[in-house]
Order: sequence, then C-alpha cells, then structure tokens
Amino acid sequence: MEKTVITAALPYANGELHLGHIKSTYLPADIYTKFLKFIGLPAIYLCANDEHGTPILLKSDDEKIAPEEYIKQWRTRHLNDLNFVLIDFDKFYATHSPEHLSLTQEIYNKLKKAGHIKRGKVKQYWDSIENTPLPDRYVIGTCPHCDALEQYGDQCEKCAKVFVGGELKNPVAKRTGNKAEVREGEHVFFKLSTFSDKLKKFVEEIEAPQDVKNFVLGWVKDGLQDWDIERDIKWGIDVPDSNGVFYVWFDAPIGYYSTLKKWCIDNNENFKDWWNGKVVHFIGKDIAYHHFLFWPAMLMGAGLNVPSSIPTRGHLTLENKKFSKSRNWYISIKDWKDNGLDPEYLRFYMTYTTPLGSRDSDFSTTEFQKTVNEELVNNFGNLLQRLLKFVERFDSKLTEKPGEVFDKVQASLTLFEELMKAGELSKALQLVSKHTHKLNVYFQGKEPWKNESEAPSVIANIASSLKLINMMLYPFLPKKTKQVAELLNVKLEWDNSPLPIGHKLKPAKILFPKVDDTVSKKLKSIYNA
Ligand code: MSP
Ligand code: ZN
Repeated sequence: MEKTVITAALPYANGELHLGHIKSTYLPADIYTKFLKFIGLPAIYLCANDEHGTPILLKSDDEKIAPEEYIKQWRTRHLNDLNFVLIDFDKFYATHSPEHLSLTQEIYNKLKKAGHIKRGKVKQYWDSIENTPLPDRYVIGTCPHCDALEQYGDQCEKCAKVFVGGELKNPVAKRTGNKAEVREGEHVFFKLSTFSDKLKKFVEEIEAPQDVKNFVLGWVKDGLQDWDIERDIKWGIDVPDSNGVFYVWFDAPIGYYSTLKKWCIDNNENFKDWWNGKVVHFIGKDIAYHHFLFWPAMLMGAGLNVPSSIPTRGHLTLENKKFSKSRNWYISIKDWKDNGLDPEYLRFYMTYTTPLGSRDSDFSTTEFQKTVNEELVNNFGNLLQRLLKFVERFDSKLTEKPGEVFDKVQASLTLFEELMKAGELSKALQLVSKHTHKLNVYFQGKEPWKNESEAPSVIANIASSLKLINMMLYPFLPKKTKQVAELLNVKLEWDNSPLPIGHKLKPAKILFPKVDDTVSKKLKSIYNA
C-alpha cells in the first residue's frame, strides 16, 4: 500500500493562528489524514514551525528577547491552538532544529555539486541615512507589477508575484521612514530559470486545482528568474560558502523533509519509503509560487522525489472584509477557545463553506449560525435524537433488517470515498448532508408514530443509515462522532454493514446543542461588530 506523507504549510513563529490559517491549510490536511487512516491506509501528518526570516528578528527585537527564546514560545502556543481544534499531527517539529540546519546545508551542497548554484550581483535596499542593509520586511514600497502600495521587499500581497531585489517603486525603510536606496552586493543564487521546461511539465501533471495550476503556468510563461537565496542578517542557517544566511523560503520547505526525517528516526521507519511514496502539501494560495515552483525545482535539482499533490485553497475573509490584525478584524483560535465556542462546529462550518481551489470564502457569524443549525444540529443531531427517543417505545431494539433507504446511503460510500481521496472535502461533506436530508424526509413522510406497523422497518433504515452517516462524519467531527457511536452502540470504524436484528440502541442524549444568539453575540464581540 502506498504511503502518504501529508504536510500543512509551516506557520510562521511570529504571530497567533487565526481562522484563515485553519480553513485553508491545517484543517483540510487534518481531515484528509484522518480519513486515510480511518480507511486503513498508511498516512502521516507532519508540520513544523517556520522559525527563520526577518519578521521574527524584528519581533524578537521589539520584545527585547533573543530570537531563540522568542520562537520557543510560539512552538507551544501554535501546537496548543491547533490541538484545540482537534488537529492531530504525527510530528510537529521546528525549522530551528539541528536536523533541519544540517539537512538544509546538505541539500544546498547537493544543488551546488549538480551545478544549480551561482554567485551573482544583487540589488539590495539600504537605509540611506543609517547606512544599514534592509532585507525583505525592513523595506516597503509600491509593487512594480500591479501598483499596490505598501508592499514588502520580497513579495506582493496583492498580485502574489515574488520580486527580484530592488524592484519596488519608491522604497522606504520601514522602521526609520528614511528613503531606501538600492546598492549592489553579491549573493548565492539558485538557477531557477534552467528549470522552466521541467517545471511546466511538473505543474501540468501534478494533482492540484486547475485554476491554481493556470495562474502558476502563467508565471512560468512570463519567464522564471534565478533566485537570490541569501540574506544579510544574523538569524537563519549559514550559507556554507558565503557571508549571509539562507533566505527563509529556501530553508522553510525543507522543513517538510527534515520533519519526516525526524519522525522516521523516532519511529524506526524507512525515510525513503515515505518520501518516495505520495507527498501531499496543503497550502493557501498566497504561497503557491513557493510550492509549485521553488520547492519542486530544489527537489529536482537535488535528485529527490517531487510532491504528488498540492491541494490549494483560497483566503478567508471576515464578514466579507480582509483579515487585519492591526484593525482587530480577525478571529484567532484563542478567541474561539476563550469564548467557550465549540471547535467541532468550527470544523464543520469551515469545511462546508471552503471549496478546493483558489476561490476565497467568508466567515460570517450569521452564516455560521445558520449553517451549523440547519446542516448539523437540525439535520443530523435532531434526527438522531428523534430516532433514539422513538425507539425507546420498542425497548430500544431493532427487530428488522433495513431496506432500500439504507442501500442508497451505503451506495453513496463509493462517491464519498472518491471525493475524500481527491481532497474535495466540502463536496464530500455536502454529500453526507444531502443524504441526511433525505433520511429526514423519509422519517417525516412515513410518520411511524402513527403507523405502528411500519415503525420497525423505518427504525431499522434510519438507525443503520445513521451508523454510516456518522462514520462518514468522523474525519470532520472526530469527538462528536465517537459520542454518537456510543449512543448507536457501535464501534466507530470504516464498516458499511447494517445493524443486525436484535441490536440495542442507547437512551437519547443531546449531543448537538443549537447555536443560539448568545453564541453569535460572543462571536461578534470578538471582532467588535
Ligand atoms: N511560513 C509560511 C509557510 C512556509 S511552508 C514551507 C507561511 N506561514 S503563515 O503562517 O503565514 O501561513 C500558514 C498557512 O496559512 C499558509 O498556507 C497560508 O496560505 C495560510 N493562510 C494565512 N492567512 C490566511 C487567510 N487569511 N486565509 C486563508 N489562509 C491563510 O505562509
Ligand atoms: Zn503586485
């Protein structure tokens, strides 16, 4: 059986995680892994903190602590936040780890030996008055491609293009406000341009949403430039044969590789078997350039296996406006937790409303309340509750085998499995919802409380169908489905068989409370609406 390594983009160790991070990246990767494991496939979910780069240096400077100390705080914090949303990793590691440092240099040396590294002139920003170099986030200016204002030196947040040094229009030093000037220096470069043809083929063939592939292919067509992978700061991994450290985006994706290595060592597993199996990177669309172009080219150049799939998702907006930490227009995971809100309702809503592909989606308190109440609480929770209550009249026992109604739910498992394997998680969840709706219509239409003679067959159909529905819901709602399985008196496992005659259900219990107005008030108070 083919092994699958699932990764989620490594969170920067410089700020708290919010619902946007969860919805595009950590949650879909978790649901996908839970599903593969559930159906018995060998799969692991890896992640790590992304601990290098100038923003971390800036922040630790602000807080007057050493960057080593600063990043440690975020390791625990990120992992706690993610665990709260019931996201489980096989390994959550760090890019400032010894394994990562040595593997990064090793991959660089391999690239160099194969002729993919060169030295080249760079245009660097300098603070014209303080006379200091201004890497990436220390400088802001106008994007030369789309004229967006206030963009950092490395990448445009609006059009997502990655800059070549010195390209910004009207650059200014961020901290001092002084005019930035462009001076020449020398850095090591990765010869990305020589990979154009190979990358084009790679992007055409990889399993990823077509709309994302199209815009990446557009970048390749525009022409790829050799990539400056060195920075003149003191925080990062030393370039073995130069003065600076590696640009954070050179070492960060190696974090997938080094985390796998660490996991394999800790668990006595064969590294090659896993990396040469299927590697799946879950990301948000803002980092497509790095994952579809830089990273595969690095792997090709070093003679290593390239990823098989890059499920990419769009951004999350809040009430249709862009997230903004400075204007407090966002909801962090900690906010969700501190307000006693249900993590599984969040998982449900986020998945239900997030398509695969670059389309953005929105978090709205009204929609959250409506979707969870309609599609989960009323549709699934109430049906379960009504069944368990009703069956109490019959000593909670099943006295018949289910029929056609159950057969349809059972048949839907094939499509469900296909959608899940293709990473079409929202479609898979909507499919489950559709079948649950049909069960409600059936239950209501049969009125078994009036037609006692039909009751045993209706009960058998609903009970066995709910067993399957609950099993499909497991990757989305890992805790609740466990509780439901207890009430249905079944094991929570991937098993499509109906409940046998004589099977006894447990007494009814409310597992899915309604999202009421106190909840929506709490939510709105988080972002001051
Ligand atoms: N450190 C890099 C990734 C390195 S991977 C080798 C990074 N970190 S991040 O913390 O900014 O983002 C982590 C993930 O969250 C990325 O997949 C990113 O696309 C996603 N998102 C960040 N903000 C988001 C939204 N507002 N909406 C949706 N996804 C978002 O990028
Ligand atoms: Zn731009």
